[in-house]
Amino acid sequence: MFISKECFEVFSYPGWLRIVGPGGQRAGFHLRWLRHQCAGDLHPKTGERQVDSCEFPWELTVEEARVEGGELVVRWGHDGRQSRYGLSWLLEHGYGAGPEVEPPPSSTELLLVEGRGRPLVEVAREALERVRHRGAALVRRGGERPEEETAPLIDAFRGEGLRVIETHFGYIEDLRTDNETNQNTDQLGYTDAGVQLHTDQPFLEHPPRYQVLQGIRAADEGGENFLVDAEAAARHLRCLDERAHELLSTVPVRFHRRQKQFERIVDAPLLQQGPRGFQVRYSYFTLAPFRLPFGRMEEWYRAYDRFARLVREPRHQYRFLLQPGDFVLYDNHRMLHARTPFRGPRWVRGIYLDLLSIKIELHLVRWMKRGTKEGPP
Ligand SMILES: [Fe+2]
Repeated sequence: MFISKECFEVFSYPGWLRIVGPGGQRAGFHLRWLRHQCAGDLHPKTGERQVDSCEFPWELTVEEARVEGGELVVRWGHDGRQSRYGLSWLLEHGYGAGPEVEPPPSSTELLLVEGRGRPLVEVAREALERVRHRGAALVRRGGERPEEETAPLIDAFRGEGLRVIETHFGYIEDLRTDNETNQNTDQLGYTDAGVQLHTDQPFLEHPPRYQVLQGIRAADEGGENFLVDAEAAARHLRCLDERAHELLSTVPVRFHRRQKQFERIVDAPLLQQGPRGFQVRYSYFTLAPFRLPFGRMEEWYRAYDRFARLVREPRHQYRFLLQPGDFVLYDNHRMLHARTPFRGPRWVRGIYLDLLSIKIELHLVRWMKRGTKEGPP
């Protein structure tokens, strides 16, 4: 096979790399597969392989990968060794192009809604449209006393068919370290600690669909918010690792929220396709100990950690700072959210929202599943 070898490019990713030819040929290779095929491990006289894959570290890394003289040249991170693979040989033994679905996007521009000087009703409508498309909307609005805009904002969303969902914290959450307005504040959100990616209320049968986080007062330092599109991450993971995706979609785990005066338990898979579409539940701080048969625990952790590493990769995250008056609205069934640790009197308001008609919607779904016994809503 003739190949215009110098026109090939190589792209490196965690655990695998891809070569792309001038005519659009694409071939993806796992690092483990490549290291296993290194010609430098063959006996110089017999050409037989002298090492097996179990002799390499489990997590392989690449220091450098380039195309040179018709070959892919890889320098390995763990031992500095250089391996060379003919491009013709690679294409002949290729086993796929690699994931065709892109990882989660990270450009915050995709979420931006200009809110300054516009009627709240108009801003709320545009924000909700952006959430339906992108999973979240970041509204830059500013203002002198943003706490006075919380009630009009709730009214604006009510006009779009959303109502406030009251939780065990109360009606509106004042996320600040000196909180005196909420119940059950014995949890990370009311401290100045960093909180890694999670969804809210996964321990409820029906976690609220949306949350608004409204910036009231900025921190002196830190307090950056970040979001990840878990639906995009799940689609990407399915291309990278089918088995991991299958386990995350089928193995129920226990979410157990236990506070001084509140306790709830729900067993559910992390990734679900429910009556309302895709739904992710992910919360490392409300997980009960995993309980699987001994022979399945190792593959489970591999799948769970793979998803976690994918979403914790900063290049897959939307990152931003909420200034006073700004707010972010996100879909809690699709997006993971987090914040960095902070110092100072940061004050963010949290408001859970869901469809006005959620009870009717769920009743209708149950009724359709059970037949006419329960009667229409
Ligand atoms: Fe949260």
